[in-house]
Amino acid sequence: VTSIDLSGGPGGATYRIEEGARRRVRELLGEDLGGRRAFVVSDSVVGPLYARAVAADLASAYLELPSGEQFKSWPSVERAAHWLLAGGVERGDLVVAVGGGVITDLVGFTAAITLRGIAWVAVPTTLLAMVDAAIGGKTGIDIEEGKNLLGSFWFPAAVIADPEVLRTLDRRQVRAGLAEVVKAAMIAPAALEPLLAAHLSAVAGGELRHVHDLVAGAVRVKLEVVARDERERGPRAALNLGHTLGHALEAATGYERLLHGEAVAWGLLAALLLARNLSMLTASEAAQWAARVGELAPLPAIADIGWERIEPFILRDKKRAGGRVGWVLPRSRGVELRVPVDIEEARRAFAALVALPPAGPFGGLFE
Ligand SMILES: NC(=O)c1ccc[n+]([C@@H]2O[C@H](COP(=O)([O-])OP(=O)(O)OC[C@H]3O[C@@H](n4cnc5c(N)ncnc54)[C@H](O)[C@@H]3O)[C@@H](O)[C@H]2O)c1
Ligand SMILES: [Zn+2]
Repeated sequence: VTSIDLSGGPGGATYRIEEGARRRVRELLGEDLGGRRAFVVSDSVVGPLYARAVAADLASAYLELPSGEQFKSWPSVERAAHWLLAGGVERGDLVVAVGGGVITDLVGFTAAITLRGIAWVAVPTTLLAMVDAAIGGKTGIDIEEGKNLLGSFWFPAAVIADPEVLRTLDRRQVRAGLAEVVKAAMIAPAALEPLLAAHLSAVAGGELRHVHDLVAGAVRVKLEVVARDERERGPRAALNLGHTLGHALEAATGYERLLHGEAVAWGLLAALLLARNLSMLTASEAAQWAARVGELAPLPAIADIGWERIEPFILRDKKRAGGRVGWVLPRSRGVELRVPVDIEEARRAFAALVALPPAGPFGGLFE
């Protein structure tokens, strides 16, 4: 059992990681639940597997939305809000999101705006949700103009993660979630690199015995970064490592070819190349990190994506960052924010990536 203080959350909130926790949500919430009513929301895949049982344990109302990113939408928020209000929800009640990042983002956002804010609890069921979406307080939905453009900072009152649920998750989804773990390790190598060395390849291969330790390590890193910058005004940008190219790849392929983590894995390789070119890392450091990313392979191929489709998103990403130009790049013991990289340099790095075999290994980039 790992219990981590949720800095940034309401007083005393914890992130609990425990095998079998899904069966003890009521008991684990304890005083957080008190006399409040709970409202459980999940999706059509996680519902039958886990969430219906959580709702039964809590004797709570239960709503099941369709599964999939296309339902992280305004109509789903409305549907959930109507359902909460029809059930007589009060501001003092508790909304419980059981699912992946789509459900935690959507339900957290619904909780944030219904009655001007109802407390919520995340029970993340994907690796990505455990190490990323369920922490940091960002909630939101997608609209026509783009992903995550409507949202709010609304920290969960508690997070309860049960690593056992990852057994039913696609291998591909697990490997994609691990990209965010590798990212966290590059941000805080001292804390995480030994854990990766010990467990990454086994977990990537589907042997989940030590996924608990990887989740705990990555969560600690993200919470520490977030605690310094709850509203994303500065240091939190570290978490965007690998995301400049990652977001561009996702957007250029219409969010269909690559899972978010797979795009981030390519993005981490790009960041390593750029950092190496600037001598921020030694060749052997860069090769070691590239080998870690290689443990997440095979990645979806990107060789047919022309740079001209990528470049506009890179330029836009930089502009959105509030006029601050620059990339987050790894250096020897952490990351450097706002490193200026000219677009020609980025194009050359991309050309080197597309020449790689998507099945790995990637160490060859630095020979
Ligand atoms: N708020 C944040 O800070 C933050 C951070 C990272 C990602 N996100 C968001 O997270 C979303 C992606 O999350 P995701 O990758 O978890 O996708 P997801 O929620 O769509 O889950 C992926 C698929 O796995 C299914 N599933 C979930 N848990 C399962 C389990 N234990 N066993 C079997 N199937 C299971 C889901 O029904 C879905 O079909 C994106 O919308 C992204 O924007 C948010
Ligand atoms: Zn990410």
